[in-house]
Formats: sequence, C-alpha cells, structure tokens
Amino acid sequence: MTRLRLGVNIDHVATVRNARGSAYPDPVRAALLAEEAGADGITAHLREDRRHIVDDDIERLMAALTRPLNFEMAATAEMQEIALRHRPHAVCLVPEKREERTTEGGLEVASDLNRLSGFIAPLAEAGCRVSLFIGHDPRQIEAAARAGAAVVELHTGHYCDLHADGRFAERDAELAALAEGARLAHGLGLEVHAGHGLTFDTVAPIAALPELRELNIGHFLIGEAIFAGLASTIAEMRRRMDAARAGKG
Ligand code: PXP
Repeated sequence: MTRLRLGVNIDHVATVRNARGSAYPDPVRAALLAEEAGADGITAHLREDRRHIVDDDIERLMAALTRPLNFEMAATAEMQEIALRHRPHAVCLVPEKREERTTEGGLEVASDLNRLSGFIAPLAEAGCRVSLFIGHDPRQIEAAARAGAAVVELHTGHYCDLHADGRFAERDAELAALAEGARLAHGLGLEVHAGHGLTFDTVAPIAALPELRELNIGHFLIGEAIFAGLASTIAEMRRRMDAARAGKG
C-alpha cells in the first residue's frame, strides 16, 4: 500500500498564543519541529476572524517551511487573493461559519458548482493543488471532480464523534460510508485525503483505507503534546498510521 502522508495542523499552537496576546508559543516553531519529527506537510487554517493563525504566520510559514504548506481557507475573495499571493503547495477549501468552534460540516459543492469552479480555476493555474473538504455524500464527491479539484479531503469528524460517544454500530456504518466515498473519489481520478477529529484511538481504521494518500491532524496532536511532547506525539501517530497501512493496526 502507498505510504500515507501526515499533515500536521498547527492552528492550536496559535490558539494558545493568542489567548494571551503574546508572541509565544510560536506556530512556526511548532511547524519546524513537526517537520523534524516526521510530518510530511504542515496545515494551517487562516480563518476570516483570525482567531488562531494570522496573516503574518502564513508569511513566516511560507518562508521557513521545507515541506509543503496546505493552506486551509474559506472560498472568499479575500482568501483567494492571499492564496494567489503566496501560492502554497495546496489550498484546501473549507466551509466557515463565524459562530462555529471548528469546521463542523463538509463543503456544499453540488449546489455551488459554478461559483466553486470559477474560484478553483485561478488557484489551479497558479500551481496550487486545490482540495475540497467534503462529507462522503456521492453527490458532493462527483461535484468536486466536476469543479476541477485535484483532491478531496473526507471529513472524519462524525466518525470520531460516534466513537467518542460509544455508538460503535453507527461509527462502523460511518466508516463504511467513508470507505465507499474514498473508492468513488479515487475512481473519479481525485487524490483522497481525510481528516478532522482523529486521535490515537480512531486513526487506524481510517489509515487502513487503501485509496487515502494523506491525513491532516491537529487538535489531538497539539493537545497530547502537552503531556508527551510534540515530536514524540507525532512519531507515535506516524507509527500507528504505518502499522494500520501494513495491516497491523
Ligand atoms: N482537515 C480540515 C479540512 C480541517 O478543517 C481540520 C481542522 O482545522 C483538520 C483537518 C484537522 O482537524 P483536527 O484539528 O480535529 O485534527
């Protein structure tokens, strides 16, 4: 099975920094440490309200990183201008609501196909691999392919919530739907990623899906790093992903 890349989302290092309005902890320092510890890429979400990552973080990440930056953003004119200025390796379009605590659902692509196609085209022309963060609904997956995305990132948040709530039969049904979605997307020529809410306990069945090429993980890694350190937490996540890929998860 192909090796699964790990993208480390460093947003919540910035959340802690911003809680005190200080210069530390610095998300760029965390990103460089994550690269050393085995991250294949760094993910950062510049939200409209700048609640964690801010514009200067993106500038500094672009200057400092040795691995690809996956720039998460809403499909707005402001964000498109920022992405076109920086030309990160990847742009992941996510839905964004001001009142939400995190990205709650997938992007609605099917009903917004014309606008999104027009939004994606200049980013793709600028050399960014455009990814759409969506649920496993076949309508959304097919629309993502039609919109000109290179990648879809399947939303694993619901699967992780069902696991945390002990609703294992529903969790397994959600996992089966994610597996089906990954097969469909791959068959349509899309590169398939997944992420949201993944932990040591939930990563293995997702990592074992053969069509997947990348996982993006943040909140758990940054939280666990308080206890175990960032490098060893990333190394342990990497180990679990590789074991699942090798059929030992
Ligand atoms: N992928 C996308 C598109 C996201 O929006 C997020 C959260 O910012 C993640 C992955 C990572 O989710 P988590 O922080 O829960 O690991």
